[in-house]
Amino acid sequence: MDIRTALKDAMQRLRAAQVPSHTLAAELLLMHVTGRERVWLYAHHEEPLEPAQAENYFELVARRISGTPTQYLTGKQEFWGLEFEVFPGVLIPRPETEHVVEVALERFSVQRGLSFAPHTSLGGASGGALRIADVGTGSGCLAIALAKEFPEATVVATDISAAAIEIARRNANRHSVSNRIQFVQCSLLDSLLCSPLATRHSPLSFDLIVSNPPYVGREEADLLPREVREHEPHDALFGGAHGSELYAPLIAQAGKLLRSGGIFVCEIGAGVLDHVRPLLADASIWTAIGVTNDLAGILRVLAAQRV
Ligand SMILES: C[S@@+](CC[C@H](N)C(=O)[O-])C[C@H]1O[C@@H](n2cnc3c(N)ncnc32)[C@H](O)[C@@H]1O
Repeated sequence: MDIRTALKDAMQRLRAAQVPSHTLAAELLLMHVTGRERVWLYAHHEEPLEPAQAENYFELVARRISGTPTQYLTGKQEFWGLEFEVFPGVLIPRPETEHVVEVALERFSVQRGLSFAPHTSLGGASGGALRIADVGTGSGCLAIALAKEFPEATVVATDISAAAIEIARRNANRHSVSNRIQFVQCSLLDSLLCSPLATRHSPLSFDLIVSNPPYVGREEADLLPREVREHEPHDALFGGAHGSELYAPLIAQAGKLLRSGGIFVCEIGAGVLDHVRPLLADASIWTAIGVTNDLAGILRVLAAQRV
């Protein structure tokens, strides 16, 4: 079987099974199996696939049809132009989460009177390296993207899941930022508020705290696409019955750990803004509150500055 026939056959099977983005899925799986780029596949579409490759390919296509996300089959997902390893114990990074990085960069640029320019080297309030925390790091995508953008920053990345911490560490190694990111398995920022980590992070003041916490309500589980509900980790999806459960402790901890002028940026779900915004209402703690839409026009990122 040649490449063109295999691709065509896979696309037909995926389309018939109503798999979203069936063309892309067929291509990504064939790229994974052959180790070739898309452009190579189309330039060499008459070349034969080895029988073992064809067998492997159609096995992956069948698993995709039965609901496994493409990224768990290929083991990777791109985020902020970087390739991240993913597996079923960790949430697949979503494109809309890139807005968290964008908002953080914009806020810093405005604060320092700089034009918005990625890869800018910025210092912290005291002129030392920026101190960043990422809460619920998952694959490490936010922590690593920010470490890349701020080459002198140090980052603490927490997650309640041991599997997430392990994969985030691997991704940090892959992107050569592991020397600047400390991974901590704990709930929210608990380990930073109590010793022994607190004593190692003195003074406890961060310039930036980001988070994409779980924000789907368990009551809404049935509304999620089946492949998300059945394949992605529930700890990464569900933030209590209504979805907003983690924001109150997260924002309270961020208020304690940010320096004056420090920035808080978090992702929000469509339904949680009304519950979350009042948590930033205390004007003696928070100022410059802003909400940013994603490309689909959905309110996606909430940001505020510590007074
Ligand atoms: C929506 S995922 C976000 C993962 C990653 N930051 C991203 O944007 O792709 C939420 C993450 O928070 C973690 N998590 C859930 N509850 C937590 C808690 N109480 N403390 C710390 N992390 C938690 C989950 O394990 C998961 O990795």
